[in-house]
This record gives sequence, structure tokens and C-alpha cells, in this order.
Amino acid sequence: MDDTDYAFGRSRAEYERLIEQAELFRPLTERMLLAAGITRGMQVLDVGCGVGDVSFLVAALVGPEGSVVGVDLDAEALKLAEVRRTAQGITNVEFRQSDARSVDSGDSSTLRWAGSYSCL
Ligand SMILES: C[S@@+](CC[C@H](N)C(=O)[O-])C[C@H]1O[C@@H](n2cnc3c(N)ncnc32)[C@H](O)[C@@H]1O
Repeated sequence: MDDTDYAFGRSRAEYERLIEQAELFRPLTERMLLAAGITRGMQVLDVGCGVGDVSFLVAALVGPEGSVVGVDLDAEALKLAEVRRTAQGITNVEFRQSDARSVDSGDSSTLRWAGSYSCL
């Protein structure tokens, strides 16, 4: 799969759809993350983070002593995610352009994959 094969496409309209979807599903997403065992202090990898909504939600759950790395193939989505991160004053999230198939997961003993609503 190369970058042009992504089914939802890459456009401003798609980014806005993701933001609306995240708002709509936020309570369910939070429950899913808690059920998955996301707690304070964790380091979490959000695979296919898009414009960052799940990363931001996880960042609140892990707190300032935890951290989130959001990875995505889409450089434009990551630019918007970074603008949104800065605007919200979130300091424990970092975005990186990377392919999920080759991402370095670091210390896997302390890492959980978020990746909600991702279609990779
Ligand atoms: C449906 S969007 C979900 C975005 C975000 N998780 C959310 O819930 O708002 C899926 C994302 O996965 C990314 N993606 C697809 N294939 C990928 C790959 N191989 N590596 C990294 N990201 C990928 C897309 O660029 C897109 O931003």
C-alpha cells in the first residue's frame, strides 16, 4: 500500500469529518480507552492519529507524568494536529510522520496502542 491507497482520502473535508466524529464518539472512546487499561503515567502510541483527537484524549488520561506519540502517514493531518495541540496548550503529545508498518515502538512493556477508528 502506498500513500495514495488510503480509502478516506486526504483533504480538509476529511479532517473536519474526523474532528466531528471524535466529538460525537468522545464518551465511547474514553470508555474504550479506560477499558483498555490506559491510566496515568503511561506512554501511549496512537497509530494513525490523524488530526490528533484520540491523542489529545489519551494525553488527558495519562496526565502530565505520561506521554503520547501520535504517528500518521499524512503530513498535512499532522500539521493540523500540531496546530491544535499548541492551541490547546497540550504538552505531553508529540506527533511524528511514520508508517505504522515500520514504527519503532520503543519499550513495548509500557506502551499501548490507541488507534481508534483507524482504518490502516
Ligand atoms: C480514519 S483515520 C482516524 C484518525 C484518528 N485515529 C481519529 O480517530 O480521528 C485513519 C488514519 O490512519 C492513517 N493511516 C493509514 N495508513 C497508515 C499507515 N500505514 N501508517 C500510519 N498511518 C496510517 C491515515 O492517514 C488516517 O489519518
